[in-house]
Formats: sequence, C-alpha cells, structure tokens
Amino acid sequence: MKHSDLITTARSLVAEGKGILAADESTPTIKKRFDAIQVESTAATRQAYRELLFTADGVDAFISGVILFDETLRQTAADGTPFPQLLAGRGIIPGIKVDQGAKPMAGFPGEKITEGLDGLRERLDEYRQLGARFAKWRAVITIAHALPSSANIQANAHALARYAALCQETGLVPIVEPEVLMDGGHDIARCETVTARTLQAVFDALFHQRVELEGMLLKPNMVLSGLDCPEQAAVETVAARTVHLFRQVVPAAVPGIVFLSGGQSSLAATAHLNAMNALGPHPWELSFSYGRALQEDTLKAWGGDPGRVAQAQKTFHHRSQCNGAARYGQYRTDMEDMAA
Ligand code: 13P
Repeated sequence: MKHSDLITTARSLVAEGKGILAADESTPTIKKRFDAIQVESTAATRQAYRELLFTADGVDAFISGVILFDETLRQTAADGTPFPQLLAGRGIIPGIKVDQGAKPMAGFPGEKITEGLDGLRERLDEYRQLGARFAKWRAVITIAHALPSSANIQANAHALARYAALCQETGLVPIVEPEVLMDGGHDIARCETVTARTLQAVFDALFHQRVELEGMLLKPNMVLSGLDCPEQAAVETVAARTVHLFRQVVPAAVPGIVFLSGGQSSLAATAHLNAMNALGPHPWELSFSYGRALQEDTLKAWGGDPGRVAQAQKTFHHRSQCNGAARYGQYRTDMEDMAA
C-alpha cells in the first residue's frame, strides 16, 4: 500500500460518527467472556457469536472497522463468505490483532512485555492477503507502588514502534495501543502522570523508528481514577484531563485517537467519549475502539441461544448508535431509554 493509501485507511477508520469494534479476543479471553454467560467456547460458538456481530443490521452507520483474532479472520459466515469479505462488503474495514500477548518481563516482577516481533513481517504479509487492512498491538503498563519502571515503559514503546514500522512497510495501518491499566487504588493524578510518561516514550520511539504518524492510529486509555480509588473523578473531569494531557503529548499529525474501554462500564465509556468530543474541536478525531463496552450487553442478550440472535443484534446496534452519537458530543442519557 502506498503512503497515501495508509492515510486514506487511517482516516476512514475515524470517519465522522464512526468508530472501531474490537472483537479480537484471543481464545482464552473469549472463553472468559463466554464463561460469564455460561456458553461453552468452541470454534462453532465463537463463529456463531462473531457472525451475530458482523451481520447486525444498520451497524455499518457507526462501525468503521472490526479488529479480528487470527481464528476469526480465517472463519466464514454460515453462507460460506469469509468474514473479512463479509465485512468489506458492508464497507467495514477488517483488521487483525497481531501481538502474541503480554508476558511477564524478566527481571521486573509485576510488569509485562508484549511478545510477537519475531516472524511478524511474514505474518503481516499473510494477514494482508487474507483481507486485513489494519492491525493492532497492545502493550500493558501497570500502576502499583514504584511501578511502572522506566525499563518497562521503554521496552514496550520500542516493541510498539518496531511493530508499527513493519505494518506500514506491509501496507497495514498500525493501531498503537499502550494501555495503562485501571487496576489499583491510585487517583486520577497518578494515572495522568503515568499516561504522560508512557505516551511520551511511545511517540519518541515512533519517531526513531520512522513511523509515519499520518498513517497510524493511537489506542490509549483515558485518564481515569483507579478502579479501587475511593474518590472517582466525574465525567467532565475525566474528559478535561484526558484532552488536556493529549494536547501536550499527541502530535496533530496523528489522524485519530481511538480509546479502549479497559474495564469501564458501557455507559461510562460512552459518556466519557461524548464529554471529550463536546470539548472540541480537537487536532485529531476522538473515537472508540471498544471491546467490552460495545459487547457486554450483547453477550448477555444472546446467551448462546440461536433464538435470541435478533434481539442481541438490536442491543449491539443500540450500543453502537450511542457511541456514534458520542463521536459528535451529541449522546444523551435518555437515548438509553430507547434501547430495544
Ligand atoms: P476493551 O475496550 O475491552 O478494553 O478492549 C479493547 C481492546 O482491544 C484491548 O486490546
């Protein structure tokens, strides 16, 4: 893909009113999601659930792209259409998770480093042939006493930049995901400091590895209070602090910032995105690349029952529509009363 094609794809992923569905749960992660609704995780149930999401009526108005896991990229709909082709046929761009997971970092107890660079060029080549047009790599940064270490931030930033350069060489738009975890009792100020350190290291590494910022997307955490922090910051505070920090550290050349939900409730993730967009205009598009926050209600509505597919698809449409409205800062909580 030419540089101009990378830019076109990156911009399409953050088109007005649209965002990304992260449906790239690895086999162990989707098993956890299915366990919660008492559904056995098999290749067949995973296929059925992903087909429910990808064929839901009307969601193409709000969903620009879907991130898939390796198994899903190779699966087909019941009528035999490969999933990447099914999505592309609806104007939804297929993407692929290409990291091989966050593993304990040697010498740094409690911290993780993401693996998957060896052989990545060849894997990216195959994914592109199978229809993927963008990719995702997630790094995990942990907040705890005396954590994160500089070594951990640097190692993850370096891997993210090496991955992003390889993606652009192959013609895939890299989504660069440094996730500062919400877990812990820390306050929002601590999240802000750690997120600042992390993003500065990531953009420094991207610059050194000659990554074209116009042809990538950033997928960060929002600036939030830790999950166990007794004083939870208000929606407007989260929005103001996140936007303020990002203006300091994210170059305007980046076309879009697509937030992860990271354990926020569905409603909080929508409300936060909405409040940030209401503070616009911004130098970049502010959008979503939610996994749990887009799927939680849909999984419950489905419950593994083929008779409940249509209802679950309506639930997914509703959540997508609310986040689509949040792209314009036009989400209102009374939209939730119109839920199917
Ligand atoms: P969550 O929105 O559930 O955090 O998932 C997004 C994602 O893709 C994590 O890598």
